[in-house]
Amino acid sequence: MESSLPLTIDRSAALPLHLQLAEQFRAAVLDGRLQAGHRLPSTRDLARELSVSRSVTQAAYDQLHAEGWIEGRTGAGTFVTDVAPLQPAVRRQTAAKVDPDAGLLTLRPGIPYIGPTPDQGWRRAWREVSTQSPPPGYDDAAGILELRAALADHVGRTRGIACGPENVLVTNGTVHGLRLLLSVTQEPGDRIAIEDPGYLNAVVAAHDHRLEIVDVPVDADGLQVSALSTDVPAVYVTPSHQYPLGGRLSVARRNELVRWARRTGALLIEDDYDSEFRYDVAPLPALAQLDLDRVVHLGTLSKTISPALRLGWLVAAESMVERLASFRAESGDWPGWPMQAALLSMLRDGYLDQAVRRGRRLYADRRTQTCAALSPYGEIIGQDAGLHITLILPEHLDDRAVAATARDAGVIVAPLSDYRRTNPGPPGLVIGYATPSTPDLDKALAILTHVLDHSAAIETMSD
Ligand SMILES: Cc1ncc(COP(=O)(O)O)c(C=O)c1O
Repeated sequence: MESSLPLTIDRSAALPLHLQLAEQFRAAVLDGRLQAGHRLPSTRDLARELSVSRSVTQAAYDQLHAEGWIEGRTGAGTFVTDVAPLQPAVRRQTAAKVDPDAGLLTLRPGIPYIGPTPDQGWRRAWREVSTQSPPPGYDDAAGILELRAALADHVGRTRGIACGPENVLVTNGTVHGLRLLLSVTQEPGDRIAIEDPGYLNAVVAAHDHRLEIVDVPVDADGLQVSALSTDVPAVYVTPSHQYPLGGRLSVARRNELVRWARRTGALLIEDDYDSEFRYDVAPLPALAQLDLDRVVHLGTLSKTISPALRLGWLVAAESMVERLASFRAESGDWPGWPMQAALLSMLRDGYLDQAVRRGRRLYADRRTQTCAALSPYGEIIGQDAGLHITLILPEHLDDRAVAATARDAGVIVAPLSDYRRTNPGPPGLVIGYATPSTPDLDKALAILTHVLDHSAAIETMSD
């Protein structure tokens, strides 16, 4: 049966003529006016009927044919197919996402200050990358060799870790390095010790790898090594600035931890996330400096340049780096060449060192200002290093309720309870002072102190 359809052509419409035709054919099939086996007019007849060129009707048929709505039978003509073509998924209009933090001042820990205009060193690095052609192949899964050498030199100079390029693997940051390490070295069900309170993303990574998490208490000196049980094959630790309490693992504890790992054969995972920043205190040796056979060291650009770069490094024994790199060669999961090339340039021309020096000066002032503003409200801890302090609140206060009230007043702070798992402790606020501009920090602290002044009136979250 040949079909004759009331087709129309609108020459003033933006949609090309052949697509107008195709659309009307589809609609006719969908509403049943055209059914499987219906014969369509020839492109020539249809063109004549509609007073369009044959190329228009041919293009419409080609389109319908490609989409499976019609088929040509040699010598017989063009027919509607009996296979209902798959309907393209309807694209649902979703409401534009609203940033829940828009308009709020943030004292959330962990994010450095990023100025409004890019500085010279940053621009120079990217200019340099833009003048180079990308490598012809897949490149080394451990990272660009020259970059690994430059990073080995960097961690040697800044963290005292004696190593070469063979000990370095370029990562997309700490968490990426941690997850890679867990994938390669741990089996589901294995136990891993993690500081409590501690870094939630490390807990989530361990959880995702189906590891059994052993909570280890921390105090003002960091992880309590004496609380480690001997049957834990891996320990995740933040020795340079315990996250979030801010203690620096004492030399005695560092030695004790490495000795313990040598004795038990455990792997120590050193998260060195913000070691670049310390104020009026001498540097402490990186754990990896003490024993690269037992320690895997994770470094990041997230605190010195920007977390948005997604770039960091992992330093370990050569055999470990080889294992990790061959796993990555199969997964294809390593930082892209432009990012690596830019970091190489930043290291070579001293940009990273300069960013750290600048950050230290800026954050030292902000830390002083933050401590001065908040010290009347509780005990301040963890102020010797990093980009945040922790304010320990009086026992009777609910830190989540205080944080919620601060948020309602326009300031984001993190309640210490959010970082605790099984080890109890006093309430507190974890306060990052690095992110806002100096005037915004003033405003945020004024709001927070106002909230704390009225903290007696804050109802607990459980009420
Ligand atoms: C304890 C800790 N480690 C590491 C990081 C950084 O992770 P990444 O390098 O994946 O951005 C953070 C960031 O907030 C952190 O708090």
